[in-house]
Amino acid sequence: MTGQASTIVLGIETSCDETAASIVMRDAAGNGTIVSNVVRSQLDEHAAFGGVVPELAARAHVTYLDHIIAQACREAGIALDEVDAIAATAGPGLIGGVLVGLTTAKALAAALDKPLLAINHLEAHALTARLTNGVQFPYLMLLVSGGHSQFVLVRGVGDYERWGTTIDDALGEAFDKVAKLLSLGHPGGPAVEAIARTGHATRFKFPRPLLREERLDFSFSGLKTAVRLKAESLAPLSNQDVADIAASFQATVAEIVAFRASQALARFSAEYPGQKLNLVVAGGVAANLAIAAALQAICTKHGATLTVPPIALCTDNGAMVAWAGAERFALGVADSLDTVARPRWPLDLPDMKVVSHAT
Ligand code: KG4
Ligand code: ZN
Repeated sequence: MTGQASTIVLGIETSCDETAASIVMRDAAGNGTIVSNVVRSQLDEHAAFGGVVPELAARAHVTYLDHIIAQACREAGIALDEVDAIAATAGPGLIGGVLVGLTTAKALAAALDKPLLAINHLEAHALTARLTNGVQFPYLMLLVSGGHSQFVLVRGVGDYERWGTTIDDALGEAFDKVAKLLSLGHPGGPAVEAIARTGHATRFKFPRPLLREERLDFSFSGLKTAVRLKAESLAPLSNQDVADIAASFQATVAEIVAFRASQALARFSAEYPGQKLNLVVAGGVAANLAIAAALQAICTKHGATLTVPPIALCTDNGAMVAWAGAERFALGVADSLDTVARPRWPLDLPDMKVVSHAT
């Protein structure tokens, strides 16, 4: 902190299965501090269904959000009327949950007479590395979560260019589906990673869809089908079979992600000659050590810096929403109480652009 005036932002996140609220401070020099960060995961609510049930998620957000916000304020030692702005995820995500968070934020903004910041969840992931590591623009972001797998060029706040995305399943979703067909439970990513440690990654050769094409897109559904067919052909599976399938699948996706990252870094170098190369990873799959190691190897080869924020800030949380709100607020942005919740909201739409209200 510089001692100059800081802004205090409350951030609310309810777009999937985490009910989260956080208080973040941003000083005049642009440094952020997480003062509190409360996340209630709904794993228990959805465990029996093998995935997130949108209706149940929305209901749980209604039940818990008020308490989570109160706890975030209590842990920060900051009263609600001391915050400078209220930020909430306004999309993309499961619309019932987004409505709960956004409506709560609107009610607070109206009652406290504070500005509202309606945050794009993807922007919140994209800007987190500036909160945690002070990464400077421009940089490349790889977002790999249960809902998204994309490369985004981050040029500035509100200024994004999507370079590639998945044409079918998200990477986290592929991990979850493979875990399900191997009866490893939900969420699948950590379970697949754990059992893969005892497996032989070279036992099965799985397809690497799209890799012959230049585009920076992903496709994981063919790979998932290949894993299913292999599992069916070997049934009944021994523990070693399960571990070998998990390890081979994980090695395949690590290779795919690293290959694409290498292409994306080459494109970044071509577009920004002489510019420092920064690759930032966000999303729950960033927790996967095999993928992180493959990305680190590629970054080392390209002379790039790999930034992976602490995993609690890579997965969904309120601090990233508060921080995105703080970055926008610092540029004079505020959103109307008429702002709508959006189930889909690509990052590179013109309405993400920051139009300063400060002048
Ligand atoms: O970002 P996140 O917490 O939630 C959203 O999807 O927004 O990501 C959750 C996803 C799940 O699909 C989960 O299986 C995956 O991240 N994941 C992992 C690991 N930990 C979480 N995937 C692979 N390896 C992991 N260690
Ligand atoms: Zn997310």
